Amino acid sequence: MLDTILRNCTLADGRTGIDIGIRDGLIVAAEPALAATAAETIDAAGQLVTPPFVDAHFHMDATLSYGLPRVNASGTLLEGIALWGELKPQLTREALVERALAYCDWAVAKGLLAIRSHVDVCDARLLAVDALLEVKEKVAPYLDLQLVAFPQDGVLRSAGALDNLERALDMGVDVVGGIPHFERTMADGAESVRILCEIAAERGLMVDMHCDESDDPLSRHIEILAFQSQRLGLHGRVTGSHLTSMHSMDNYYVSKLLPLMKEAGVAAIANPLINITLQGRHDGYPKRRGMTRVPELLAAGIPVAFGHDCVMDPWYSLGSGDMLEVAHMGLHVAQMTGQAAMHQCFAAVTETPAAILGLEGYGIAPGCRADLVLLQAADPVEAIRLRATRLMVMRAGRVIARTPPALARLDLPGRPSELDWRLTGR
Ligand code: FE2
Repeated sequence: MLDTILRNCTLADGRTGIDIGIRDGLIVAAEPALAATAAETIDAAGQLVTPPFVDAHFHMDATLSYGLPRVNASGTLLEGIALWGELKPQLTREALVERALAYCDWAVAKGLLAIRSHVDVCDARLLAVDALLEVKEKVAPYLDLQLVAFPQDGVLRSAGALDNLERALDMGVDVVGGIPHFERTMADGAESVRILCEIAAERGLMVDMHCDESDDPLSRHIEILAFQSQRLGLHGRVTGSHLTSMHSMDNYYVSKLLPLMKEAGVAAIANPLINITLQGRHDGYPKRRGMTRVPELLAAGIPVAFGHDCVMDPWYSLGSGDMLEVAHMGLHVAQMTGQAAMHQCFAAVTETPAAILGLEGYGIAPGCRADLVLLQAADPVEAIRLRATRLMVMRAGRVIARTPPALARLDLPGRPSELDWRLTGR
């Protein structure tokens, strides 16, 4: 006797008519016509069932601060940085915790159950670190929050940042961050990468750096990151976030860079919503799109995830924790409209970031934790197209969120009385 069976599921890999059996919070079977009984049976009605969405790149310490102390009137990166500087001295631990918990509620409702968040450590009080460690513990029953020690003002440029970063790691922050392109010189940028990668190697931690978030084609810290990853044997533990300068780099140089990244086992994270809005701001027309070379990275065998980066904070006034919106933007900006490419965009907000974060028990197979999302969509492409409703979100076999199906009612002569934007009758 099982606890729950989800019958007639379609999976992201294309399998249909799959029954998922759940006992004690774990998936015990995922196969057609499962011959078992359960205390509860849920009919998925042929709709898509996926493991949860995963956001590989976020800033939980800034989220939902929109309007504090004022809105970003110009919508630019520079005003966003100025705003964050104005807000920082006013932050309190209680308000940080409250906003982060509220965002996690939004995330859960959207089936987003794992987030890697950078946390600013350029503050001797480490207020945000303290707050987000508390949040991490509080949400652990329903959301995996992984924290990156992020020296936002530059680990060398900002006095005391290196010491703060080490203290944050001592306190339990999981991943070593960095921002080499923000250091004063290229040489300092390279030095910061060396120092931070050595800290990660000594402590046995992963690395995820904001790297080359710039339109400058000569911002090449990703090369140093790959080199240090290889030198220190950090294969599979290092990620370059943003990598927007790659959009503008010389093609010959990139043809040498991608194999180096592959050899070094470095993963990439693009942040389509933020890259498309913040990059290219110094351009006249034509304006660069500013997202890294996603299809080319994937073709070189480098894992690429999409992150949300910001939701309603000093840099970005929009967003709702919807990773399908992120995938939708990534698909368009990268022109990934081929059938296989659209599925890669879905993977970029599910299984690829799960692997980058090193999540255990992720997936739909016997032995995995029963973390599942039932979508009002037939397949991953339709899920992206409709930013489909998360009908049901399950964590360890327990339903933790539900949303009614999206349905419009019509009153037109001779036309259907309702619709849900899906192709029917074929
Ligand atoms: Fe970021």
